[in-house]
Amino acid sequence: MSLLRRKRVEDLQAEALADQSLHRALGPMNLVFLGIGAIIGAGIFVLTGKAAANYAGPAIVISFVLAGLACAFAGLCYAEFASMIPISGSAYTYSYATMGELLAWIIGWDLILEYLFAASTVASGWSEYMVSFLADFGVHIPPQWCAAPWNHVVPADAGWNLWRVFTEGWTRTGAILNVPAMVIVGVITILLVLGIKESAAFNNLIVAVKVGVILMFLAVGVAHLNPENWTPFIPPSEGPGKFGWEGVFRAAGVIFFAYIGFDAVSTAAQEAKRPQRDMPIGILGSLFICTLLYIGVAGVLTGIVKYDRLDVGAPVAVAIDSLGPGWDWLKTCIKVGAIAGLSSVILVMMMGQPRIFYAMARDGLLPPIFARVHPRFRTPYWATILTGLCAMLLAGLLPIGLLGELVSIGTLLAFVIVCGGVFALRFTDPHIPRPFRVPAFWLVCPLGVIFCGWLMISLPPDTWARLLVWMGLGLCVYFLYGRRHSRLAQSGKEASPQLR
Ligand code: ALA
Repeated sequence: MSLLRRKRVEDLQAEALADQSLHRALGPMNLVFLGIGAIIGAGIFVLTGKAAANYAGPAIVISFVLAGLACAFAGLCYAEFASMIPISGSAYTYSYATMGELLAWIIGWDLILEYLFAASTVASGWSEYMVSFLADFGVHIPPQWCAAPWNHVVPADAGWNLWRVFTEGWTRTGAILNVPAMVIVGVITILLVLGIKESAAFNNLIVAVKVGVILMFLAVGVAHLNPENWTPFIPPSEGPGKFGWEGVFRAAGVIFFAYIGFDAVSTAAQEAKRPQRDMPIGILGSLFICTLLYIGVAGVLTGIVKYDRLDVGAPVAVAIDSLGPGWDWLKTCIKVGAIAGLSSVILVMMMGQPRIFYAMARDGLLPPIFARVHPRFRTPYWATILTGLCAMLLAGLLPIGLLGELVSIGTLLAFVIVCGGVFALRFTDPHIPRPFRVPAFWLVCPLGVIFCGWLMISLPPDTWARLLVWMGLGLCVYFLYGRRHSRLAQSGKEASPQLR
């Protein structure tokens, strides 16, 4: 039963009021910008083209609506939790109050997949854009210093064979280290140690740049639309998952990555000035704005260039090329926008991870060093530095493709648990004040579980295999350390595990 011990929501609320060690500096606009900062990145600048060319055609617009819907259900549930339990730790803390310590640990461990691994994945993408941007100005970085030393492609027939998934398919790339990826992670780590306010100000600036560039692309693109490119809107099926409705769903799974990040807003709950009111604004506001931008970009992209030409790493640049000569300045702007976009994703993800570690260490499930707050900067600086070092190593050494799908499956698992948790808590603790309530929770929560669970199922077996191994590793750490040091066990302040 000790694995099911739950924290009382009342205790969590009291903790949120009492713990003033972090700096409450963020207002609603900062939170919306943090959300946009985390959301718009590699997904829209890289994945959209491939998903349109290979799976959905112009109907990629529908894929964005579907993935956006799954995120909207999850976003509503995050908003209820974040306003009710305004304390750092996000889904980890919510699970502690609903499903008990073991599941909370599992979700905390799982969030490492989302935040830490996303930061590393996106840092590799940042490196590619930066190298190409510098090359435009005659600055060439030797290729052996801007790529990971290994590449990994899982053999198509490996299926559930864990041994083959992990050992086969590795090749040397000839490169030594991805230095630009490591540098950007290092710079952002320093910024995050220096202060939440400074980090948010920098984030606001780069978000303004990336949104400005996207709006510029939309304005130019709308004037060059060729509606013929939209027919057929859903290209006829060419096999399993390739075009047709099945392709539209497959593409929704692929571009789900583009939406990841709005939940990172909830990790900053303890640094928001008025979390009860502003958390829902930050989470839902950023998700809404990005959904509109994504649908616009997907429509314009496939409207100015035929979808089958978009199977490239920089689809927006291909679309601009198709406009004819004279648009090179816009291409340069897009690169600047992409670099800014990817920087803010790394920033917010690397802001989220230490705050999860902070919450877990405060509960005794991780060593106390993770909960140390800097006396002057008021940031969880040890957790931030350790996160930065891990992200640097991953970004410098591992290929980008290896981590991307793990990020998606880890995030989806968190969404499923959060949607389930909101539903459960309505029955176990119906009287707790909820400044924001999910409308029609009896419908929205189950739909969130179903949509996100279904997106998880659409991911390949090797991604599931990695998830299971990662979770197995997490359970070992829990039973060797967390279970024995749990503060909740020592304090005896447990909520009843039974439904009330
Ligand atoms: N949503 C983020 C991106 O697309 C992770 O880069």
